[in-house]
Amino acid sequence: MADCMQEWPEPVVRVQALAESGLSVIPRCYVKPPCDRPAVAPAAAAVQAQLEKDQPSDIISIPVVDLGELLLAEDGGAVGVGGGLGNDVTEAVAAACREWGFFQVVNHGVRPELMRAAREAWRGFFRRPLAEKQRYANSPRTYEGYGSRLGVQKGAVLDWGDYFFLYLAPEAAKSQAKFWPANPSNCKEVSEEYGREVVRLCELLMRVLSVSLGLDEAHFQRAFGGADCGATLRANYYPRCPQPDLTLGLSAHSDPGALTVLLADEHVRGLQVRRGDGEWVTVQPVRDAFIVNVGDQVQILSNSMYKSVEHRVVVNAEEERISLALFYNPKGDVPVAPAPELVTAGNLPALYPPMTFDKYRLYVRNKGARGKAQIEALKGQASSPEN
Ligand code: OGA
Ligand code: NI
Repeated sequence: MADCMQEWPEPVVRVQALAESGLSVIPRCYVKPPCDRPAVAPAAAAVQAQLEKDQPSDIISIPVVDLGELLLAEDGGAVGVGGGLGNDVTEAVAAACREWGFFQVVNHGVRPELMRAAREAWRGFFRRPLAEKQRYANSPRTYEGYGSRLGVQKGAVLDWGDYFFLYLAPEAAKSQAKFWPANPSNCKEVSEEYGREVVRLCELLMRVLSVSLGLDEAHFQRAFGGADCGATLRANYYPRCPQPDLTLGLSAHSDPGALTVLLADEHVRGLQVRRGDGEWVTVQPVRDAFIVNVGDQVQILSNSMYKSVEHRVVVNAEEERISLALFYNPKGDVPVAPAPELVTAGNLPALYPPMTFDKYRLYVRNKGARGKAQIEALKGQASSPEN
């Protein structure tokens, strides 16, 4: 596949600036084809309290996994995940991965104050004057900085959201100082600390995933590059939208990496997950939880025993929404393929040819969010002679 373009194919418009201009009709480039539009606009925070009592059936609290005991046991020096202590947790995670590809974690070891501080730091950034934010305008070369589109296809239908993207790990790949916002003044420090803690959580979840598939607990981490796994952070900002039923904050996609840990807005819903029956359901985050979902690399490594699941973001007319997504990714140059231990009698053949994450992520960087098209295409290559 050709390398990403060096620059965006069209002038970049900040969705936040559009929203704040007070327009009542959204520009045509944000209008999705009818089949991609949300069925109903999600309820805004103003009516949320009322809904809580009589919640519509399309608003769902996806499985909640409590990591408290496991973390306690490990801190006390007991064998946690690999020993008997993690049984309940691994079973809960396995069930959630099979049924949803999504779950929430509570008592996950990341301090709620740090979560709030990180979210507020990024809220603070998006509240800075436009001219200041523009200093961090990103390009499709690395995506680092302030962005308003994914993909470089000219004339693509765009999403109703802006974002800020950074590399956190490994150290050698970390975004240089110039890419980090100077304001709020604690943004870099808080994000780095937040990143370190969430990466630790990802490492724990990697062990839980390995054990839940009957592998030794270090298997996933090893297969994804050991201590040199990558982590990136995307702060998503979805402004209010005068016509929320015509567009999406983020189009349907599965995440290309291994694992995503999402800190959702504490007041405003917006994340929707495609359930097994094809219906889109809105996720109701529980307090102080993270929303975790497995990405395409886990689907590849597990030979599709765990599948990455499509999700998208809907916007609303009353409230802006913010979320922080930490993407835990394989080291860029390690070929990832189905684990031989999992390509067994009941699960043949190996569905995916080996591919590095550096190569895999070029697709989304070129084409933007396209449901599960990429991993489906990779599957098609598994049996072709050149592989
Ligand atoms: C993402 C994502 C969901 C959200 O950034 O990949 O799916 O709620 N975000 O912002
Ligand atoms: Ni996502």
